[in-house]
Amino acid sequence: MEVIILASAAEVGQLATRKVARTIQHKPTAVLGLATGSSPQAIYAGLAAQVRDGALVTSDVRAFALDEYVGLPAEHPQSYASVIRREVTEPLGLNPAHVFVPDGCANDLEGACQQYEAAIDAAGGVDLQILGIGANGHIGFNEPTSSLSSRTRLKTLALQTRADNARFFDHPDDVPTHCVTQGLGTIMDASEVLLLAQGTAKAAAIASAVEGPVSARCPGSVLQFHRRATLILDEAAAEQLTLRDYYRHTYANKPDWQRF
Ligand code: GLP
Repeated sequence: MEVIILASAAEVGQLATRKVARTIQHKPTAVLGLATGSSPQAIYAGLAAQVRDGALVTSDVRAFALDEYVGLPAEHPQSYASVIRREVTEPLGLNPAHVFVPDGCANDLEGACQQYEAAIDAAGGVDLQILGIGANGHIGFNEPTSSLSSRTRLKTLALQTRADNARFFDHPDDVPTHCVTQGLGTIMDASEVLLLAQGTAKAAAIASAVEGPVSARCPGSVLQFHRRATLILDEAAAEQLTLRDYYRHTYANKPDWQRF
């Protein structure tokens, strides 16, 4: 697990944007794994600017969202289908036919989850999975005690997660109680993962995910098993890490050929 600590959230966004842009430049048909929430927004805005400037071609990029609320129609402004369309597909000029979001309104939710897994496999798997992390350590919507080998499935949202996401809704009671999420096993199948975290609110989750025991109590800790996991953090999100000096030293001495 590579941990990169930067001075500000803006620098986190810039470096992460460079990483994703580099992935697309190396493989124009790259399959991206998309996260929602505030953390990855700087990436999407940064990539959109590069597309506008003609510096990045995304017409053959394919993408799979991590999760979706259950019971929110796709046209609801806070459905992840709408968020992904609004923040990624349209600004980045992706082909909407190549962008997938789990179906949270399917009659057969279990069947839809299996089809989603099959679609990821049919695309050849995710090349780079973008992740945020919840204050309770969830990645995607894999709440604490999620199986470390879980697949795409229905999940009950933790009260804290609903409270944290209420800022996007008119009323806290409007936040759905259930979701469909790629599993931890599904996320771990990605060739590479890139997790962003900014702010003090994420410090405890980051400390558990990076330096705590691998445990379903902190779903993000499963990334300790991933062969190519990069975490880009601002100072506040890194403040509870005990090996900060080592991470800084490692990044400062990173050979140029390994830099992105
Ligand atoms: C939601 C999403 C996660 C995201 C998390 C943190 O629960 N399902 O994918 O990582 O929120 O969001 P934020 O980046 O807004 O703190």
